[in-house]
Amino acid sequence: MIGKKSGAHENEWHRSSPTGLVIRQKDPPNLEMPFDQLDSFLTPTELFYIRSHFPTPRIDVADYRLRIDGAVGNPLALSYEELRGMRTETQIATLECAGNGRVFLVPQVRGAQWQLGAVGNAEWTGVPLRTLMDRAELEDDACEIVLEGADQGIPAEEPKPPGPISYARSVPREKAAQPEVLIAYQMNGRDLSGDHGYPVRAIVPGHYGMASVKWLTRITAVREPFQGYWQTSDYAYWDAFDCKPVRRPLAEIQLKSSIARPRVYETLSPDQECTVFGAAWGGETEVTEIAVSSDGGQVWTAAQFLDPVRRYSWRRWRFDWLTPKQPGKYTLLARAKDALGHVQPPDHDWNYGSYVIDHVLPIEVFVDDPVRRER
Ligand code: MTE
Repeated sequence: MIGKKSGAHENEWHRSSPTGLVIRQKDPPNLEMPFDQLDSFLTPTELFYIRSHFPTPRIDVADYRLRIDGAVGNPLALSYEELRGMRTETQIATLECAGNGRVFLVPQVRGAQWQLGAVGNAEWTGVPLRTLMDRAELEDDACEIVLEGADQGIPAEEPKPPGPISYARSVPREKAAQPEVLIAYQMNGRDLSGDHGYPVRAIVPGHYGMASVKWLTRITAVREPFQGYWQTSDYAYWDAFDCKPVRRPLAEIQLKSSIARPRVYETLSPDQECTVFGAAWGGETEVTEIAVSSDGGQVWTAAQFLDPVRRYSWRRWRFDWLTPKQPGKYTLLARAKDALGHVQPPDHDWNYGSYVIDHVLPIEVFVDDPVRRER
C-alpha cells in the first residue's frame, strides 16, 4: 500500500513542483503562491498553495477504498475505479486557507506566516457528495458529514491530543447536500497531485480550505455535531450565545480582496501610469463591487472587474493609477462589496484569532524618482 506506484494513472506520484512557491514550512509542505504572480483566472496547479498539517500519505489506488458509514442505511466501500466510473461534475472554486494574510496581523500571531498567496482558483472534477450520500441512503437524523483523510500525526498547536490523530472535518448536512460539494479526483483537468490530495479529496466551495479534506478515505454521517480537534481546538472561533462566548467551527469564506501588484514595498516612479491588479472573492455570495484607495482610505474609486460574476470563483480586477508627483510612501487599499451589501471591515476581528484575515489590507509602496534612487 505504501510507496508503490501502480502506473494506472500517470500523475499519481506527481508532486506539484515547488518552483515558484514560497516555503512557509519545508516538511510537511506548506507553500504559498507569490501573489504578485497572479495572472490567469485559473491558478496553474504548480502555483497553487499547499497547506498540509502532516506528511503527505502515499496511497496506492489499487488498494484505495472510500468508506461511507455512520448514519446511513447502506454503508459503502468504493474503489477508485468505481468512483471514477460515476457521473461527474466540474466546478470552479476558489480555495483560501483560513490563515491567509496572517503575517499582516499586529501583534504577530503563531502559525504559518502566510502573506497573500494561500489562495487559488482551480477547476475541480469529481462526484457530487450528495450522489454518494444518496447511494449510501443517508438517514434523516444525520446532522453532519465527517470527512476524514489518510494523513496522521500530532498537531503542532496546543492543546495537543493525547496521541496521533487523523485530519477530519465535518460539513453541515445542508451544505453537503448542495451540488457544488464534490468528492474530486482531478484539478485543472489532471489527476490530483500528491500534495493536493491524490487520489481523492473533498472540495467544499465557499468554505475556507480546511473543509476540503485531502487524501479522503472515510465519510461518516453523524447524528450529533462533530467535536474533533480541527473543529474545536483549531479552525474555530469565538462567537456569542446568550451573551456568553462559545466556540464554533470556521465555515464560510468571508468577503475579501487582495492587491497582487504593485508588490508590498515596491518602489514606483512618480507621475507614471501604474496598473493596480488583484482579485476579490466571497464565500456564499457574489462579489459585486471593488474600489481602490491610494491615500490610505480617504478617497475610494471604483476599479474594473476582469471576470464575470461566478459563484465560488474569484474575480480579478484592475485599477489604473497615476502615481503622485511627490515622492514618498503611499498606502494602497482595495475593498470589495458583495451582493448582500457586505463591505470588507477596516480592522481584524480578534474573535477569529489568527484566522479570517478579511479586513482591508494596506499595501505600502514607495514613489521615488529613478535618478534619485540610483544615487
Ligand atoms: N486535508 C488533509 N487530509 N490534511 C490537511 O492538512 N489541510 C486543509 C485542507 N485539507 C488538510 C486537508 C487546509 S487547512 C487547507 S487550506 C486545504 O486543504 C489546502 O488545500 P491544498 O493544499 O490543496 O491547497
